[in-house]
Formats: sequence, C-alpha cells, structure tokens
Amino acid sequence: MLRDIERVLIDRASIDRRVDELGRAIVADLARDGAAGDDAELVIVPILTGAMILVADLIRHLPLKLRLELAGVSSYPGTSMESKGASMKHDLPPTLGGKHVLIVDDILDSGQTLDLVTRLVREMKPASLRTCVLLRKPGKARVNFTPDYVGFDIPDEFVVGYGLDYDGYYRNYPEIATLRPEAR
Ligand code: IMP
Ligand code: MG
Repeated sequence: MLRDIERVLIDRASIDRRVDELGRAIVADLARDGAAGDDAELVIVPILTGAMILVADLIRHLPLKLRLELAGVSSYPGTSMESKGASMKHDLPPTLGGKHVLIVDDILDSGQTLDLVTRLVREMKPASLRTCVLLRKPGKARVNFTPDYVGFDIPDEFVVGYGLDYDGYYRNYPEIATLRPEAR
C-alpha cells in the first residue's frame, strides 16, 4: 500500500486538530438550538463507506446523546475517479423526523451525494439538519451546496486515505494523500 502513495496533503496531526475543532463547533451550534442537553437527541448519518473513519473520530469529540443511522450512496463505482451521479443504495431510516440530524461525508466534490441525501432527509422534517465534510474541492461543485462544516479545502486532485478510497482500497491509510499514477 505505501508504495502507491505519492504525496501526503494533510497529515495525521492536522486532521486530529481539525476534527477536534469541528466537534466543538458542532456542539456549540447544537447548544444554541437547545439540542445539546441530556434530553436532546442527535442522529448522525454517515454516508458509507467514506465517512466511517471521520465519524469514528468525530463522535468521540461529541459529548452528547446520539445515535448513528447509516446511509449508503453510490457515486464513484469501482475505479471511476469522477462522479457518475448519486443514487441511494437503500432507503434512509424512517426515524429522522423531529430529530436533530447531522449528515457526515468524507468529501464534497460534485456535491451530488450530499445534495441527494439532504433533500431526502429534509422531506422527513427533522428538527434541525446540518452537514459536515472533512474535505471539499472548491470550484468542482455541479450543484450549489454549502456544507455547515468543512475540515479542509483541497486542490482538485484525487485523494485517498482516512476513509477515502480508490476502487475500495486505501481507506485505512491514516493521512490524506495522492496516489502514484501507476497505482490508478
Ligand atoms: P460528489 O457526489 O461528487 O460530491 O462525491 C462525493 C463522493 O465521491 C464522496 O463520498 C467520495 O466517496 C467520492 N469522492 C470524491 N472525490 C474523491 C477523491 O478525491 N477521492 C476519493 N473519493 C472521492
Ligand atoms: Mg468513495
């Protein structure tokens, strides 16, 4: 795996620092909504599979009563490196109405994935709805979508690691990195 990595864009310490900051911002905003007390319920919706690592780290910075409800979206099947348009792999859980919902994804690229999931969740009438991504490629969006929380803006390069994959691989690489051309 390591020989396929070309260049680290964001190292582990920077990711850790930023995830801590994102957690604080999320808690502060929920507190303002009256949603950070013991009786308030937050539902985190990680978009599989890329959001797994971020969510695992992020929720340990959220001292709140919360549940996870997974969402499966397909947009980059197999070895494709460009969005093929987002579609749901299964229905969202029907339990998001009236809840404070935070949708989490690894990266906002064309924006179609988050646009799709937020539209579906909004139809369920949540008490509040926010979105969080670790990465964003500015200027790439095909739909007008602004996440509430963005870890890092990155250049328009295909990246892997910390949950992001190429053909399903490299999600376990702990930093955000580019791939050598021979590996793609
Ligand atoms: P969007 O629908 O185009 O915004 O794409 C979002 C999804 O595409 C993310 O959930 C990722 O799984 C995938 N994606 C976008 N850019 C990259 C990248 O640079 N590396 C790996 N996956 C990516
Ligand atoms: Mg992916």
